[in-house]
Amino acid sequence: EEQTSPTSSSSSPPPSSHFIGRKEDVVQAKRVTKLVGGRDVLVLCHQGKLHAMDMRCYHTGGPLQEGDIEEFDGRMCIVCPWHKYKITLAEGEGLYQAVNPSATPPKPTWCSKGVKQRVHQVTEVNRDVYVTFNDSPDTIDSDFYQTERYRATMNKA
Ligand code: FES
Repeated sequence: EEQTSPTSSSSSPPPSSHFIGRKEDVVQAKRVTKLVGGRDVLVLCHQGKLHAMDMRCYHTGGPLQEGDIEEFDGRMCIVCPWHKYKITLAEGEGLYQAVNPSATPPKPTWCSKGVKQRVHQVTEVNRDVYVTFNDSPDTIDSDFYQTERYRATMNKA
């Protein structure tokens, strides 16, 4: 259920945003999942900061709302509970460690697979939390798990 716009423009939710919940409820729950505008989104609060992304992991649809949050290479990531893929909270980049075999000793370094998970923008207005979809027209891997085709498969399982 969308909030009606307050009269003052300075305190209106952004256009085409989706209401998630009261800030205090999101902060207390730490993680909130909600189907808004046809997408299942995860909104999480980590160290006082709100982040939003597609709820199902870009790898094979794992439930990111159950993942741990850890720092890798100085970047905050959610770690998918299914196969431990690491996804940056801010950009949705998939991180992995690669070992350069020609280095002595072989040294693992963190690398990025690029943006794999669609992350969305979070806005707070009058202590209400809203999500505005990242409408990048390029397909992002996590998009597949938002399709009706995927949902239908899940419902049959
Ligand atoms: Fe997330 Fe495999 S489904 S790591």
